[in-house]
Amino acid sequence: MFAKFTSIGAYVPEKILTNKDLEKIVDTNDEWITKRTGIKTRHIAEEEVTSDLAYKAALDALKNADMKPEDIDMIIVATITPDYFTMPSTACVVAEKLGIVRPAVDISAACTGFIYALAHAKAFIESGMYKNVLIIGAETLSKIVNWKDRTTCVLFGDGAGAAIISATDNKEEAIIDIDINADGKFQDFLITPGRGVKLGCDTDRIWLEMKGNETFKVAVKTLSQSVRDILNRNNMTSDDIDWFIPHQANYRIIDAVARAIKMPEEKSVLTVHKYGNTSSASIPMAINDMYKVGKLKKGDIMLLDAFGGGFTWGSALVPF
Ligand code: ACO
Repeated sequence: MFAKFTSIGAYVPEKILTNKDLEKIVDTNDEWITKRTGIKTRHIAEEEVTSDLAYKAALDALKNADMKPEDIDMIIVATITPDYFTMPSTACVVAEKLGIVRPAVDISAACTGFIYALAHAKAFIESGMYKNVLIIGAETLSKIVNWKDRTTCVLFGDGAGAAIISATDNKEEAIIDIDINADGKFQDFLITPGRGVKLGCDTDRIWLEMKGNETFKVAVKTLSQSVRDILNRNNMTSDDIDWFIPHQANYRIIDAVARAIKMPEEKSVLTVHKYGNTSSASIPMAINDMYKVGKLKKGDIMLLDAFGGGFTWGSALVPF
C-alpha cells in the first residue's frame, strides 16, 4: 500500500494587517520589513481561534475531494497555537466541529509541522491502518507574538491549510519520500519559555522569542542539506521538480535554498508577501494558492521544505 496526496484546501481570516499598519504599532517601516523578509501583509484572526481556521480549511479540502467528513479515518493537526495549551488537542476540537468521532492528535513541530504530519499520515496509510488521513496545519500566531517586540511581531500571520492523504495501489502517484529532522540543542533560539511547566506561568515570557539572525543561518544550512539529500537519494535534480513549495518564513531563506539546489526562479512558489510566516500552515496554504489559480496540475512533482522551532526541519517529494 502507498500513500498519495488527494486534496488541498485552505482558509485565512478576513482582517489584513499591512506593513503601514504595523508602523503605528511598533518602531518599524515598510522598507525594513520588505527588504529583510519580503512580507507586505498578513491575515489576523480576531474572533476566530485555531480550530475555527483548521475546520474551515478542512471543509475546503473535503469539498475539493468530493468527500464527506465520515470518509476521514484520522485527523492530525500540526500547530504551535492550539486552542488549549494542555488539553484537549485542537484535533479533537476539529473532529467535533466536523461531526465525526475518529482518532485525532496534534503534532508540535513548529514550522515543520505540516511535513511531520505528512510523514505520520504516510506511515499510518502504508501500514494499512487507515485509508484517508486529514492533515491540517493551522495557526493563530498573532495570539502568541509580543506586539511590542518589532523583531518578531512583523513576521507572523494567521491561517490554515488542510490536505487529505489517501491509500493507493499505484506507486506512480505515491508520495516519493519524506525527510524529517530535529536537533534540540537549538531549543533556546525559538521558544515561548513561559507557557509550559518549566517556568509555569511566567507572564513576562509567554510570547514567542526568536534569535532571528542565528535562526536564519541554521535554517539555510540545514534546509539546503535536507533538499540536496532527498533529491540525491531519489536520483532526482531540480529538472525533475515542477514546483518548489517551501515554508514561507522569509524570501531570503527561500532564495538561498533555491540557489543551493539550482532551482529555477519560476519554479519557486512565494506567498510570504501576502501571508507572512504562518508556521505549519504556510506550505498547504501555498499549495492551495497554486491549485486555486490552476497552476498545479495532477501529477506535478512538488518539492516541499520547512524549518522551525526545536529546531525541526525537513523536506518531501510529493506528486500532486
Ligand atoms: N523594523 C526595523 N528595524 C528592525 C526590526 C523591525 N521590525 N526588527 C529588527 N530591527 C533592527 C534590529 O534592531 C537591528 O538593529 P541594530 O543593527 O541597530 O541592532 C537591525 O534591524 C538588524 O537586525 P537583525 O536581527 O540582524 O536582522 P536580520 O537581517 O537578521 O533580519 C529576520 C531579521 C528577518 C528575523 C531574519 O533574521 C530571519 O528571517 N530569521 C529567520 C526566521 C525564521 O526562519 N524562523 C524559523 C521559522 S519560525 C517558527 O518556527 C515559528
